[in-house]
Amino acid sequence: MEQTKVIKPETLDDLIKTLRKIYERGRDKVNVKEVQSIMEAYESKPQEWEKFAYFTEGRYTRNLVDEGNGKFNLMILCWGKGYCSSIHDHTDASCFMKILQGQMKETLFEWPDPKLPAGMVQKSQRVLLENQCAYIEDSIGLHRMENVSYTENAVSLHLYSPMFKTCQTFDQHTGYRKEADMTFWSRYGERTPSGFQRCCCRRL
Ligand code: SIN
Repeated sequence: MEQTKVIKPETLDDLIKTLRKIYERGRDKVNVKEVQSIMEAYESKPQEWEKFAYFTEGRYTRNLVDEGNGKFNLMILCWGKGYCSSIHDHTDASCFMKILQGQMKETLFEWPDPKLPAGMVQKSQRVLLENQCAYIEDSIGLHRMENVSYTENAVSLHLYSPMFKTCQTFDQHTGYRKEADMTFWSRYGERTPSGFQRCCCRRL
């Protein structure tokens, strides 16, 4: 698969330009390790992403940064202290997650058998540090992300390709699944008018 030498993006704008260029090749020609290395190489500078970072009480927020010429969604997720996502899938998309600020715990689960209601089986757990970039797709499993800190906020940068508007969330105790809308709290730094965001979020 095509892979170019990793050139460190100096700014968030550089990173966006590089990602757009990579995705011009077509999704099946995108090298996961290359995207991961490029996202990891960008050193988080709050002054470059602060304008996208909206926090609110009671949920984490999803803030659209770029639509990647129709090939991907790049978004900043803002996690208040102790906030986490529900266990969810990724609707057949590729998903990269880079930590811009703080630390996030990723817990990976097996897909539950829909015919056999049972508690979700945990596969692994790891803590991602500032500037690290993780990758997940449905063949790897389901996951939950969590701001491990009860005193500090966390911020992460997510790339989803192709874009998707709904995902499935899973109850940890029964494996019961339901569809959830993935909406944005803000787009391009502007608060979205409806103000309503219903996606997988809750406080542990
Ligand atoms: C995550 O926990 O991976 C984020 C889910 C989302 O995109 O809302």
